[in-house]
Amino acid sequence: MRVNLVVNGRRQEADDVWEGESLLYVLRERLGLPGSKNACEQGECGSCTVRLDGVPVCACLVAAGQAEGRRVDTVEGLAEYAARRTGADPAAVPSDDPRRWEASPREPGGPALSPVQQAFVDAGAVQCGFCTPGLLVAADDLLERVPSPSDADIREALSGNLCRCTGYEKILDAVRLAAARQDTARTEEAR
Ligand code: FES
Ligand code: FES
Repeated sequence: MRVNLVVNGRRQEADDVWEGESLLYVLRERLGLPGSKNACEQGECGSCTVRLDGVPVCACLVAAGQAEGRRVDTVEGLAEYAARRTGADPAAVPSDDPRRWEASPREPGGPALSPVQQAFVDAGAVQCGFCTPGLLVAADDLLERVPSPSDADIREALSGNLCRCTGYEKILDAVRLAAARQDTARTEEAR
């Protein structure tokens, strides 16, 4: 079957999708978006977290057919997603080439990092490529819903995202940092 999606704001279609194929497989293998990771394929680790119509889900648990006609936002589009939310400089956001995020985000003209991504970099919270993408999407969703989260809020929001090897302290620091920056930006805006 053919599945039509809007992925990171761009219309995409995937052909020859078989029944039971996961959204994660479609994103990674058919649409060339490897940011969402396949680590457990059982909904246990959160490495494949994407937003489906704005709600974080484990893409490995969503059948591709369930995503028909819906909006999917992946870690590749996180900077754009965050920029749309805050009305940030659209010039920092690519508008055309759907594969542009494959280039380094630091390249001139490439997409800026989202505030959460920048905070992960600044706090030294970027760990491995398996857990980080899902953590970023989950953290961004938290800051969208709860602008000034408590530590309990942060722990709960990230409780579905597992790291198998290191610790969570720097990740917590990064979310606190992103929240504090968001708060400062709001206060300055209100002046
Ligand atoms: S790969 Fe989907 S939750 Fe682990
Ligand atoms: S699973 Fe990514 S650093 Fe542990």
